[in-house]
Amino acid sequence: MPDPTLPSFPDDFLWGAATSAYQVEGAVAEDGRGRSVWDTFCATPGKVARGQNGDVACDHYHRYPEDVALLAELGLDAYRFSVAWPRVQPTGTGPANPAGLDFYDRLVDALLAADLTPVATLYHWDTPQPVEDAGGWLARDTAHRFADYAALVAERLADRVPWWITLNEPAVVTMLGYGVGEHAPGRTLLLDALPAAHHQLLAHGLATRALRSAGAARVGVANSHTPVWPASDHPDDVAAAAAYADLHNWIYGDPLLVGAYPDLAWLAGGLPDDAADDLPLIAQPLDFYGVNYYCPTRVRAADPGEPLPFAVAEIAERPRTHVGWPVVPEGLREILVALRARYREALPPVLVTENGCSQDDAPDERGVVDDPDRIDFLRQHLVALRQAMDDGVDVRGYFVWSLLDNFEWAEGYDQRFGLVHVDFDTLVRTPKASYHWLRAALRDEG
Ligand code: BGC
Repeated sequence: MPDPTLPSFPDDFLWGAATSAYQVEGAVAEDGRGRSVWDTFCATPGKVARGQNGDVACDHYHRYPEDVALLAELGLDAYRFSVAWPRVQPTGTGPANPAGLDFYDRLVDALLAADLTPVATLYHWDTPQPVEDAGGWLARDTAHRFADYAALVAERLADRVPWWITLNEPAVVTMLGYGVGEHAPGRTLLLDALPAAHHQLLAHGLATRALRSAGAARVGVANSHTPVWPASDHPDDVAAAAAYADLHNWIYGDPLLVGAYPDLAWLAGGLPDDAADDLPLIAQPLDFYGVNYYCPTRVRAADPGEPLPFAVAEIAERPRTHVGWPVVPEGLREILVALRARYREALPPVLVTENGCSQDDAPDERGVVDDPDRIDFLRQHLVALRQAMDDGVDVRGYFVWSLLDNFEWAEGYDQRFGLVHVDFDTLVRTPKASYHWLRAALRDEG
């Protein structure tokens, strides 16, 4: 049944679902793939829940025809996937591994044959281990290595992939990967992690240039954005919230869109000395700006002895998803309107490149996976999205995270974000009620 509570969207609005390579592909030792920082992190005791890893994941590497059929049956326009750098360049440098590129070639052809638009992300966190060993994102040279890789992928696929995303969520890589060590590569540098932010931005700039020279039609980036709410009106909490907003949102958005870093004393001290020279390259015009939204962040001033100038406080008054994140649909409208207010004409058309929730989904005795909370979540976020568009934000598309239940990083396989349930013993896919709901809604939209 179509959902009468859903607003309508423009005819050319791009509807999609997203995944990423390490989270779904598996086949980590096949066809010459090299090791990534996530293989290493997962093999390190205590880093990932239950010691799980992406060795098999959803076996998308072999089962992609079934997954493409699921996307097509759902009635989506587009599939956002990521390319694994260590499949294309097993050591992170040198010529392409043809067998690695062949996989994405097959995937892209299967998508096009099913009338689905490929949206390729070049980096969704799986740095080749040798690149990490040489300094990873703390080293400027990694940006150049990344641009070489981008050129290899684009030379092979730009004739058929119209939408390109350079990086996924550099903020999360910097904060969780290099700042507090909850993600690969597990560094705990706190604010000394900031060079990782700058070098990813430089990598984006260099890769954008390489993509365009190889004929890529549309180039953008996918940033994690969160509205930041001070825990109280106290000036210390307000200042802490502003610092957190800079760290999570604006040190990425500002250089990319207006060619400047926020003017902050603590930030200048943490960036490489020559950072300002790179800003023109970082701020090349983009065809679209990807926003990944999950929830707002409430922030308070740090207590004496806490390591950072701010601390995250609970948003306890809202329902939560299985992973514990508050459900705040109007936060999507809030962040989109804030982006528009901050960047005005410099904000390119927006794609919501990720939005979704984890729930504790399991098939019942009839084999049905009923996920009413996800349906509610998606419905309410689409209402908020439509409101942001009515407020004047130019949003052109929306991608559900995720098509499939998958490897949820340090949480392992317990956090299910998919429209499609995956049994990780048998790898059987079962579309959830949310899949059927979205399919009916898309049919209704025409
Ligand atoms: C990431 C995804 C992740 C999702 C849910 C995003 O930050 O891009 O890879 O699975 O959030 O945590």
